[in-house]
Amino acid sequence: MVGASGRARCAVTTLVALVSAGAGCAEISPETGELRMACVDADSDPAKRVSFATEIRPMMNGDAPGIRGCRQCHYGSNAGGSREGLLATGLDLETLQTLRRGGRSSPPDEIVVPGKPCSSALVQKLQGTFGGARMPRGGPHWDAPAIQLVIDWIAEGAEGADGE
Ligand code: HEC
Repeated sequence: MVGASGRARCAVTTLVALVSAGAGCAEISPETGELRMACVDADSDPAKRVSFATEIRPMMNGDAPGIRGCRQCHYGSNAGGSREGLLATGLDLETLQTLRRGGRSSPPDEIVVPGKPCSSALVQKLQGTFGGARMPRGGPHWDAPAIQLVIDWIAEGAEGADGE
């Protein structure tokens, strides 16, 4: 999963603490003490294409078991939710089209950068490396395999649309 360049990046980015974890590497968040996987700009499973609609959308909706979604705070039509993330930043995650518009500190060319998951605000917010709160705000936060799906989708070009 991690190539030579990935290892180099890992070594550079984990100044605080570095733990060997099989083929990959992990770091301990200075803010929370949580163990998390370092971001690597590579598709972890090039033989498999991630579908935004069937693999990532259900997690964002909060329909995937054990995964807290974004609906409460970032879905424009969710009148019953607090919509605090949408109100604070303008980021509407309800459709892929609105997601691509980004938010106040994540403009369209930064929220999702095709081919560069680690530079994408969406991934950085899920990993807690962007600044502000780690998403979903208040947790529980997504585990490494869930975030890896988003990383792989963006590494593969971040294509697709809701419903595809
Ligand atoms: C409990 C409410 C809440 C939930 C749930 C939540 N967010 Fe947020 N989100 C916020 C708030 C509030 C902000 C602005 C403050 C901050 O960045 O910490 C924000 C900001 C963001 C931003 C930065 C946007 C910008 O341009 O500043 C991203 C990206 C983001 N959220 C992604 C997500 C994703 C993806 C999910 C679901 C996995 C999610 N959020 C779930 C409340 C939430």
